[in-house]
Amino acid sequence: PTIRLTDYAPPAYLVDAVHLTFRLDPAATRVAARLSMRPNPHAAPGQDLRLDGEKLTLRAAAIDGARIELNPDAEGLTVPAGALPDGPFTWEAEVEIAPKDNTALEGLYMSKGMYCTQCEAEGFRKITFFPDRPDVMATYTVRIEGDQPVLLSNGNPTAQGPGWAEWHDPHPKPSYLFALVAGDLVSHDDGFVTASGREVALKIYVRPGDQHKCAYAMDALKRSMRWDETEYGREYDLDLFMIVAVDDFNMGAMENKGLNIFNSKYVLASPETATDRDYELIEGIIAHEYFHNWTGNRITCRDWFQLCLKEGLTVFRDQQFSGDQRSRPVKRIEDVQMLRTRQFREDAGPLAHPVRPQEYIEINNFYTATVYEKGAEVIGMLHRLVGADAYRRALDLYFERHDGQACTIEDWIEVFEDATGRDLTQFARWYSQAGTPRLGVEESFEGDTYTLTLTQSTPPTPGQAEKRPLVIPVAAGLLDRQGAEVVPTRMLELTEARQSFTFEGLAARPVPSLLRGFSAPVILNRTADDAERAFLLANDTDPFNKWEAGHALTRDVLARMVRAPDTPADPELLTALVAALDDPALDPAFKALVLGFPTAEDVFRTVRQDSPPPDPAEVRVALIRLDTALARLIPDLPERIRALAVPGRYSPDADSAGRRALSGRLLGLLTRLEPDAATARAVFARTDNMTETMQALGLLVRSDNADAALAAFHARWKDDPLVLDKWFSVQAALTPPERAVETVQALTEHADFDWKTPNRLRAVVGSFAMGNMAGFHRADGAGYRFLADWLIKLDPVNPQTTARLAGAFETWRQFDEGRQALILHQLQRIADRDALSRDTTEIVGRILDAP
Ligand code: ARG
Ligand code: ZN
Repeated sequence: PTIRLTDYAPPAYLVDAVHLTFRLDPAATRVAARLSMRPNPHAAPGQDLRLDGEKLTLRAAAIDGARIELNPDAEGLTVPAGALPDGPFTWEAEVEIAPKDNTALEGLYMSKGMYCTQCEAEGFRKITFFPDRPDVMATYTVRIEGDQPVLLSNGNPTAQGPGWAEWHDPHPKPSYLFALVAGDLVSHDDGFVTASGREVALKIYVRPGDQHKCAYAMDALKRSMRWDETEYGREYDLDLFMIVAVDDFNMGAMENKGLNIFNSKYVLASPETATDRDYELIEGIIAHEYFHNWTGNRITCRDWFQLCLKEGLTVFRDQQFSGDQRSRPVKRIEDVQMLRTRQFREDAGPLAHPVRPQEYIEINNFYTATVYEKGAEVIGMLHRLVGADAYRRALDLYFERHDGQACTIEDWIEVFEDATGRDLTQFARWYSQAGTPRLGVEESFEGDTYTLTLTQSTPPTPGQAEKRPLVIPVAAGLLDRQGAEVVPTRMLELTEARQSFTFEGLAARPVPSLLRGFSAPVILNRTADDAERAFLLANDTDPFNKWEAGHALTRDVLARMVRAPDTPADPELLTALVAALDDPALDPAFKALVLGFPTAEDVFRTVRQDSPPPDPAEVRVALIRLDTALARLIPDLPERIRALAVPGRYSPDADSAGRRALSGRLLGLLTRLEPDAATARAVFARTDNMTETMQALGLLVRSDNADAALAAFHARWKDDPLVLDKWFSVQAALTPPERAVETVQALTEHADFDWKTPNRLRAVVGSFAMGNMAGFHRADGAGYRFLADWLIKLDPVNPQTTARLAGAFETWRQFDEGRQALILHQLQRIADRDALSRDTTEIVGRILDAP
């Protein structure tokens, strides 16, 4: 059934305290629950008690100690009001569950012999009967009985003995933050003293043998804890903070109170096994989950429609953190690239929805780029509009006013209105209106006055035909024709559909630099010519827009090359890119981004705007042609690569990573000119770190020179699952399109292809469908059939991961009629399956509804 925001009603009963006892067994775990409950004073009295529960075998239930016979249905059970006392009462239930059969990885499940949990959003109902909704907050006392050496739950340990342990979490929390872990684990330990002097023990639990891969995550954790104190005034609030790394995990990580559970991919790192990008992601995700302790746990969501209240804010906070730890401009460009590839794509298709959705069928389908990344952009705009000081005052008020509560977006907006005196009614439309706004630009210059006229419009999205104007902060600066900045950055506040802004006292017509720092998540439709873009690439003082100018120029040149295949690679673009490469004022990480070409999908979309859909294979050809032309223009590539080598031991710091990123890009160019990929082979043979290994291996796969390297890599790393994932994924993403389907087919038949582990499945099926555009969109539809076969096979096992992968089809309406018909056939084939999960039914149904 469809759940609607407008149907929200407060819970009929509240839970003050939860007592849980687990007797662990893979096939028959016993969970005894004792809940102290009472009628909610803010709800209608005399209601039945409804408890959620799925896949639970009820052994016994009692109210105030008296046994009661109940017949659960598929989604829970109902205790009639008549069977309940007037005031507070105690609910008790004993249920049996089978963690080893739980392949959906929600609730209590097993991963490589260890017990672990994932309760967000609605996994707790697979552990015991409970009002499983975030506005029911309780303290938890947990006893675990099991023969595992390590038995963990939230909060502080209170007692333990051989075969048992007891935990107590004094902070009232919603059930989605409950966690339990039991297994043969070892910990990497450290400590932290908070600003007010609380001593906190820090423990990262991993499988024996992985202890030496925890140092970076621990360091990132301590830096996150300090940063939240200095930047937000937020201290940690328990004596213990634990992280557990788990191999089987549907998502990235989970912020359970005091016991974060992570996909091991985002914890474990060593120079030999992790790339620079892995280190960066570990830092960002460790920070993200830690920051949730205040934005998510202390202040949580009233209902799941408010998900962006915690996720958008926490992503914004982790982005600020990473920007502070590394290069701000580089981080901003990376975040915008990710927003455009994932969120703009979502916003432009059948799965578009507002940052705060109005309805859903399966909430797991709404952990999306829109809720997370666009949600973070909305906070970023608020920050820009009110300024850093007012932002901090508003956040202080938010924590003071709402600590311990389950809140809504209205509460959040009100805090900002009260702290700043601004009326945010119109701004709040960002939360309810889906789609990416288009920004239009008109200019005029008369006398000494430059007038900028900005227009805004948002195309219709599913269920939202009419769009209203938003508040759009447009950071703008002006340059003169010599390249000097004549008007520094000003924040223009666009609130109307069409609005003019004037700049006086100018000697000549200026060149505008608009949407600096990507000040709003919009598409800027400015018909700038190549010369202006090259000018901004060379002269803009705003690093984001400097990059953006080069990026847009490259994208437009590529689009022209696709439309007319005999168009030569534009010499002006090539000269501008080489000039950027030679600019001593730019750092290597930034140069790597400027020289990094847009994705095939980005070019495809650009062509599609004013021409019929191109063949993805032709987009790929244009990218190779431009790459080759650029490579020919840089004569001394080998020397440049050598000069970028980082001396000494490997370190994942941002400067070293930036040098490796640029040298990897140059190696990619050089490999275009070497039929046998000699230099990439040499790098692969001699490097001691995974970053350069993967750069070289990717180029060998791309150029069809990888047989020996792949065999050597496999032999060396076959026992390290995270590294082996890279071996699978590089082949799925980079094998040339003619053989890509056959390659992924063979990979899924490989002895190491363990498809029930989401990381491994995503490494092949996800990397192919989302990362190998020309291969996936092969004209005969073999790529589509491959994906559909896997979705059909996986759905009964793991619905959440299936539904997520099905998103690869969300762009289907963008393609030519032949491909659309082939995709439609596969979507139909999936939709026709009996007993398709709710997750996949919803996603496939929405994709099929695409206009
Ligand atoms: N709250 C987690 C995070 O953002 C994500 C949990 C997602 N879980 C899910 N079932 N979709 O850090
Ligand atoms: Zn989060």
